[in-house]
Amino acid sequence: MTESTDAPAAPAPEKTPAENGTTETPPEETPEKAVEEKKDETPPPKEMRAVVLTGFGGLKTVKILKKPEPTVAEGEVLIRVKACGLNFQDLIVRQGAIDSPPKTPFILGFECAGEIEQVGEGVTNFKVGDQVVALPEYRAWAELVSVPAQYVYALPEGMSALDAVAITTNYVVAYLLLFEMANLTPDKSLLVHSAGGGVGQAVAQLAKTVENVTVFGVCSKSKHEALKANNNNIDHLLERGSDYTSEVRKVSPDGVDIVLDCLCGEECNRGYSLLKPMGRYILYGSSNIVTGETKSFFSAARAVSALLHFNYLIVRLFVSGARVEIIGCIFGKNQSKLIYSNEYVNYNVNTL
Ligand SMILES: NC(=O)c1ccc[n+]([C@@H]2O[C@H](COP(=O)([O-])OP(=O)(O)OC[C@H]3O[C@@H](n4cnc5c(N)ncnc54)[C@H](OP(=O)(O)O)[C@@H]3O)[C@@H](O)[C@H]2O)c1
Repeated sequence: MTESTDAPAAPAPEKTPAENGTTETPPEETPEKAVEEKKDETPPPKEMRAVVLTGFGGLKTVKILKKPEPTVAEGEVLIRVKACGLNFQDLIVRQGAIDSPPKTPFILGFECAGEIEQVGEGVTNFKVGDQVVALPEYRAWAELVSVPAQYVYALPEGMSALDAVAITTNYVVAYLLLFEMANLTPDKSLLVHSAGGGVGQAVAQLAKTVENVTVFGVCSKSKHEALKANNNNIDHLLERGSDYTSEVRKVSPDGVDIVLDCLCGEECNRGYSLLKPMGRYILYGSSNIVTGETKSFFSAARAVSALLHFNYLIVRLFVSGARVEIIGCIFGKNQSKLIYSNEYVNYNVNTL
């Protein structure tokens, strides 16, 4: 069978320029088409998992969500996070009981450790692959975080990321409290509240590096056993909510040289009553304003009352000539303008 010649011939398949030996001019490209093609080429932004605060309040407001991966700006490093620190400050942020909080939703967290994945322009002291711990202002609880290099610290050889985030904030705060503010010297006595917490345990441990220091630690009874079992550095463990001032006086009738108070409110009076002449009273937190899982009208009222009480106490201490120090914020601008800021207390006590 032959093909009918009447039938229209099927169009010959087009030859490529290589096949026919010619160079073909490509069809003219309109600017709109070019833009459209470019758009198609741009890969969608990469996403990471992050712990996001979706609104101030209880635990339900904390969610693991997908967020765009951060980019690294000049002077920053990008860290692949392996471990995160969780401190009391995070709890206060969650409740919105802080000064000028960011608008929700935002990524939580002030402390993380991990490996440097990218180094921004102008950063000379870090390289890709370095193991570090960092103190960003929020955004630490994510798979990736970009942090100004000045708030990033190289981990000593052999220190794990988990150890780094358990140590950094707690021990830096404890160190500054004891040695920069309280000027702890041999033979002194000190009382520390929340002794079972991160800062409290660090305070007790570092205090014991100084000769013949006596540590009184106040915390909930439920923590006493664990603290005693865990290489306890507290000489006299006292129960939160009990008449601990009388207990202190049984051991040390003149009181103590240093009071480290992170509770505020009622504890200010008790702590002050225990202070020896020339003693130092350092108020560095106000945990007493936090009651329950969410911020309530009741806790707000307690906060106001605590602060009123606070100013009164300052005047009294000033008149009596005792020395008072209130830490505006240990980490300066980056870490926390939070509840510890002088604006909130409305008083610059470091100058007293
Ligand atoms: N000024 C600064 O820059 C700075 C920096 C870091 C920490 N801080 C302050 O230091 C304190 C301790 O911080 P942290 O990170 O070590 O805390 P943490 O590890 O979370 O321990 C907090 C402990 O505080 C006690 N506590 C007292 N009132 C509480 C409340 N209303 N709700 C829950 N727990 C309460 C609890 O122990 P007990 O029940 O056993 O007493 C709890 O175990 C906090 O007040 C914090 O704000 C201040």
